Amino acid sequence: MSIQTKIHDTADLVAQSAAQTIATLIRKKPNAVIGLATGSTPVKTYAELIHLHRENNLSFAKVTTFNLDEYWGLDGDHNQSYRHFMQDLFFNRIDICTWNTHVPNGKAVDPALEGKSFEAQIRASGGVDLWLLGIGHNGHIAFNEPGSTINSRTRQVDLTQTTIEANTRFFQNQDDVPRKAITAGIATILDARQILLLATGSAKANAIKQALQDQPTSQSPASFLQTHANCTFMLDKEAASQIA
Ligand code: PGA
Repeated sequence: MSIQTKIHDTADLVAQSAAQTIATLIRKKPNAVIGLATGSTPVKTYAELIHLHRENNLSFAKVTTFNLDEYWGLDGDHNQSYRHFMQDLFFNRIDICTWNTHVPNGKAVDPALEGKSFEAQIRASGGVDLWLLGIGHNGHIAFNEPGSTINSRTRQVDLTQTTIEANTRFFQNQDDVPRKAITAGIATILDARQILLLATGSAKANAIKQALQDQPTSQSPASFLQTHANCTFMLDKEAASQIA
């Protein structure tokens, strides 16, 4: 098993290609279960999908979604919560039913119970057909920071200093960035029938090289994707610049 790579000239072409992959799945299986990610990388892909919805009759009416993660302590109305991000940039602009969209609850009373319930909801949906992922500078996928194991499942985690610093750009100051999150685990992601990881820009080049070329290791959580039977990395030239 190895990861397939598709390299495009620009980030816009990565987004168009990712959106086409998702659209093809939905046209073939209108009730597809799709895993989604937040962060800046997939925003263009969501814009492309909104375009396909408006101009090409792509319907999400029967689609179910699961998001990877949520900040711990933020409720869905908080303007930096990932639920808010998804509503604002994607769900409110397509014909998806809100009750078919799942984002872990950052205000759950018991994180362990929330993790189990999230996993149970994925199983009850029939499992994820395709999970769209980004990657962190440190090789994290979702909030599975270095040190996460291949068997990890949805759970509460501490964010690393690198991630807190990277995410400070979205908050007024660093003290406002939550220190914990609830995240799908690596095993949760690997259960998906297909995985599509997007990376653009030279800042991701080293993380991509390690994910593709290191032996699968907790030090580069994305390297565990090498064990998946149907995983593609869609990259722009900059993100692919360190691949041998
Ligand atoms: P980014 O984040 O898309 O904003 O670079 C990706 C990630 O940290 O997983």
